[in-house]
Amino acid sequence: MSELVIKDLHVSIEGKEILKGLNLTIRQGEVHAIMGPNGTGKSTLAYTLMGHPSYAVTGGEVWFKDQNLLELAPDERSRAGIFLAFQYPVSIPGVTVANFLRTAINARRRAINPEDKGVPIPEFRKMLKEKMELLKMDSVFAGRYLNDGFSGGEKKRAEILQMAALKPEIAILDETDSGLDIDALRIVSEGVNALSGPEMGVLVITHYQRLLNYIKPQFVHIMMGGRIVESGGPELALHLEESGYDWVREKYEEPAA
Ligand SMILES: Nc1ncnc2c1ncn2[C@@H]1O[C@H](COP(=O)(O)OP(=O)(O)OP(=O)(O)O)[C@@H](O)[C@H]1O
Ligand SMILES: [Mg+2]
Repeated sequence: MSELVIKDLHVSIEGKEILKGLNLTIRQGEVHAIMGPNGTGKSTLAYTLMGHPSYAVTGGEVWFKDQNLLELAPDERSRAGIFLAFQYPVSIPGVTVANFLRTAINARRRAINPEDKGVPIPEFRKMLKEKMELLKMDSVFAGRYLNDGFSGGEKKRAEILQMAALKPEIAILDETDSGLDIDALRIVSEGVNALSGPEMGVLVITHYQRLLNYIKPQFVHIMMGGRIVESGGPELALHLEESGYDWVREKYEEPAA
């Protein structure tokens, strides 16, 4: 079983420390949610796990399948089975959704077997059609340039389509619910649920308990000031929804300098 183990992680951006000793373990088959106020470092954690070059790891360790994840390049992390659905997906004019996905799938296959000839086109088309139906995406999206002119909600669906196609072992979803209308929220969540299971561990970053009615986490963590300060079950998210973050701030926040 694969597990992602984060130990005492410290991360700085442009000399400012954002993550200040974060600990978290996510196993395949588990669903974790992280909630926390704006600017607390949730996306920083997601980007750091994926290997974004602007985020400097100044301390701690991250292990995945007995490999030191921090030593791997972003594409190696992806091929190892880590996936990030971005809070703000970027568009790639000139690259269609279908081409992008086929290239990514083939790269993963070649990582497993260097002799692999790539996914046969009919098999790829069938898979893409199935996953797009699951996410109730119009088939015209396959031929459009990735995220180019997509609405906010369409971009979020395209992120989950990538997850569906790549079948990661650990998926990090950074505010995948933001910008989704009520129906899309349900469809995307059902898509995530259909894909999750014993083979996939999920880390959902969200501001709203609402999402967690659909994607049910076993573990809920509260992040504040660059650390996970409270962990519990789904009741923790309900408690936050009712009481806000004041009690967490009082308990953990460093006094303003
Ligand atoms: N490239 C950057 N340059 C300077 N500061 C940055 C950069 N990226 C992030 N930060 C700062 O790091 C802090 C943490 O940002 P991060 O995006 O991780 O927060 P977040 O918890 O995801 O917030 P939100 O809930 O609003 O998405 C913020 O204060 C942010 O301004
Ligand atoms: Mg964020």
